[in-house]
Amino acid sequence: MAIFAARCAYCHDNPDVGAPAREVLAAFEPGHIVEALTTGKMVDNAAGLTPEQKQAVAAFLTAKPATDGSAAGSTPTPPTKP
Ligand code: HEC
Repeated sequence: MAIFAARCAYCHDNPDVGAPAREVLAAFEPGHIVEALTTGKMVDNAAGLTPEQKQAVAAFLTAKPATDGSAAGSTPTPPTKP
């Protein structure tokens, strides 16, 4: 995941920084991660990322599909396929 490696790993894969480890981020809902990157604590660190890139990072970290953050806090219902 190039975005995580380039923009997040030097804090979130680095015990010296005190940022929550990648395993901790994985437990968040993807919408919460997008929200943190868009309006939350990580706004400055995510500067320049497009909404699509933020969703991609959130989906990568949580291994769940991400939404645009407008539904943060709620769990998006995945589309059901027959
Ligand atoms: C400069 C270091 C740094 C960078 C770069 C960084 N983070 Fe963080 N991140 C932190 C720290 C420190 C915290 C803990 C902040 C706190 O709890 O006050 C944190 C917290 C978070 C949280 C939890 C927010 C919450 O609401 O508790 C998420 C999600 C997150 N980071 C995702 C990311 C993602 C994704 C990236 C890459 C786009 C990123 N961070 C880049 C240092 C960083």
